[in-house]
Amino acid sequence: MRTIPYLGGKSRYIDTIRSGINALDPSGDKRLLDLFAGSGSVALSVAKEREVVANDIQSYSRVLVNGYSRRMENSPEDYWQDVAAEASSYLDDERISHLVAWERSVFDRSDVNGIVAMLSRGSGMAHGATSVWAQLGLRNQDGLNKLVMTRYYGGVYFSYEQSVWLDAAIAVARRMPEPQVDVGLTLAMRFASNLVTSVGGHYAQPVQVLSRSGVPKDKVALKVAKRRVAFDPGGLLSVAMNHLASVPIELPVRGETADFREAIEQHGANSVIYADPPYTREHYSRFYHILETIAIGDEPGLTYSNLGGGLVPSKGLYRVERHQSAFSIVSQAQAAFNDLFGMARQCNASMLLSYSPIAGGETARPRSVALPTLMELASRHYESVEIVVIDGARHARLNRRDVSQAAPEGAEVLVYCAP
Ligand SMILES: C[S@@+](CC[C@H](N)C(=O)[O-])C[C@H]1O[C@@H](n2cnc3c(N)ncnc32)[C@H](O)[C@@H]1O
Repeated sequence: MRTIPYLGGKSRYIDTIRSGINALDPSGDKRLLDLFAGSGSVALSVAKEREVVANDIQSYSRVLVNGYSRRMENSPEDYWQDVAAEASSYLDDERISHLVAWERSVFDRSDVNGIVAMLSRGSGMAHGATSVWAQLGLRNQDGLNKLVMTRYYGGVYFSYEQSVWLDAAIAVARRMPEPQVDVGLTLAMRFASNLVTSVGGHYAQPVQVLSRSGVPKDKVALKVAKRRVAFDPGGLLSVAMNHLASVPIELPVRGETADFREAIEQHGANSVIYADPPYTREHYSRFYHILETIAIGDEPGLTYSNLGGGLVPSKGLYRVERHQSAFSIVSQAQAAFNDLFGMARQCNASMLLSYSPIAGGETARPRSVALPTLMELASRHYESVEIVVIDGARHARLNRRDVSQAAPEGAEVLVYCAP
């Protein structure tokens, strides 16, 4: 199952991964512990045939897994009416209606300078005195606390109107009865993923509309405007209807937020483990920080780059609290893998491990741990360690000595570890 577009997401390999898990526990009695659940694609698919605990260090993963495994109780139409009423109440505020009216006139006039302004200094929180807000005389943000998406990311990652709707969807989700909150937040995250304008469709890099020398890139700006002007709030109704259709029954899966070590301690016994940790230097928290803010519901704050005496906001408008994974830090990655294998083996849990070349980009990146080293670490703890290279429909089984020659740099690999 594919929930949101996710770097390194395994929806393409689900069938192979499911048969791998079933080969490690043919009885089907053990629960699956998905330690690095990410978008939840593996956890949600396996939950159709066995109980699952889906863990990840990022809170949005828990929300997505819970949201995709629970039926929506409200009708999509009633839900959409609630969000529309909330958005309309935000637009009653003159500051917000002024921003949206300004934006519409920019789009109507195909005003490249206006489009460049919203994309490069549209954030009321990040761009302060130089922001579009300030330019329109809207410095005071009192009473707008709930509008986190609009204040931080409006103009840059979303149009102001889109961000108002996103804030409204988040507020409506937070008012839902407890088990439904994650369903509502999931709808908001899917809506955000559909709307975002950025490089790569995630939240690490806003679209650059100025060249290095500060010249506006007209074509890029007009392309963004064309997409934003076509915004239809009814898209949220479609997201809700699609959700109701795709989650017809409750699934036996629970999303959790913890470091993998804690998750093994809690759930490792009597589990079969699926582990798909990051393998590149790119931290997931950078690519999905806006989803994390939707999941947590806090005031995210902003990090600043070292440029301009530490006064320039980070390009991606990253939140202050961001997890740095040991798996993505070359000097810490081997110790993290050693803990992973050692702790799982101590619980007597078999493990299927994905060794994946793609994360943090659309092309293969250098991995933080080489495959032969990974095999050596696994073999310190597990008696049986086998590798399968997934190459299209062909699956090549390798022994340990073949590894360095036969597993190509860009290949997707599964490692079977059994006591
Ligand atoms: C390759 S992705 C998993 C993709 C997932 N299998 C899917 O199909 O969507 C790796 C995940 O590991 C998580 N992660 C990184 N360090 C972690 C840690 N120490 N404990 C738990 N999760 C961690 C990241 O947040 C990210 O979601």
